[in-house]
Amino acid sequence: MTAKIISGTEVAAQIREELKGRVVKLKEKGVTPALAVVLVGEDPASVSYVTAKAKGAEEIGMHEETIRLPADAAEEKVLQTVDKLNKDPKFHGILVQLPLPKHISTDKVISFISPEKDVDGFHPVNVGRALRGEPCPLPCTPHGVQQMLVRSGYDPDGKHVVICGRSNIVGKPLTAILMQKKKGANATITICHTGTKDIGYYARQADILVAAMGVPKAITADMVRDGAVVIDVGVNRVEDKTKEKGFRLVGDVDFDAIKEKAAAITPVPGGVGPMTVTMLLMNTVEAAERKAGLAK
Ligand code: GUN
Repeated sequence: MTAKIISGTEVAAQIREELKGRVVKLKEKGVTPALAVVLVGEDPASVSYVTAKAKGAEEIGMHEETIRLPADAAEEKVLQTVDKLNKDPKFHGILVQLPLPKHISTDKVISFISPEKDVDGFHPVNVGRALRGEPCPLPCTPHGVQQMLVRSGYDPDGKHVVICGRSNIVGKPLTAILMQKKKGANATITICHTGTKDIGYYARQADILVAAMGVPKAITADMVRDGAVVIDVGVNRVEDKTKEKGFRLVGDVDFDAIKEKAAAITPVPGGVGPMTVTMLLMNTVEAAERKAGLAK
């Protein structure tokens, strides 16, 4: 079997078209959805993510501002910046790009963002709401994974989803999203992590296997059953002197071998990556809709 390639670029383009229409409706009501991105320091991967977010926002007609602070900015300065954005009615969404420099407490900064403007869905209040299945901004990467599955015809309803990785950004919130008794969810979840004795044993039982470990090619073909759907959340930079930038991106799964076994698989790049930015745009549009009284 040669797997169908699930293109995040294509699904993201479809959602972005829908969002353009919602932005037009908001503008007719005199509201321009606006996103503030706070970038502390100049970590190359973070700069690249922030640039993609700004470009994506602009393309769908949203307003976006990136606030850049030096790598040695005091924690207090970051908190003051967030406070100002919390109080500024122009902004519907605030995102503080992670990781933050070590001298700044990520938990403190995230908890300082107003939950209504927390378009990352990382604030403890939103984490709780997501687990309870209440309306709230959902973390962008796992929400993007759900959208990719549903829109590509692989509804997780009734399926066994095995998630490898228990991060607060992907593994845990994806569990919260897919376990709900809701449309596009209702799955049975197994979560594997560094304490799991034999990940392959669980992975082979997956109808849908999600790799979010941050380890290049950690999932090998022997860990995948024939006909499984494989979602690769990994974005790992590996040295490649043949590339202009000196590196290339690889995922957490051995794509070439697994595509011969799986029913469907996401590529890296062009898989989950474009979905993350798109879901951030969706969360910001939804925050603006709630404020304008247009929310469902
Ligand atoms: N860094 C890597 N992924 C993310 C994300 O989803 N949100 C934020 N704020 N920072 C990140």
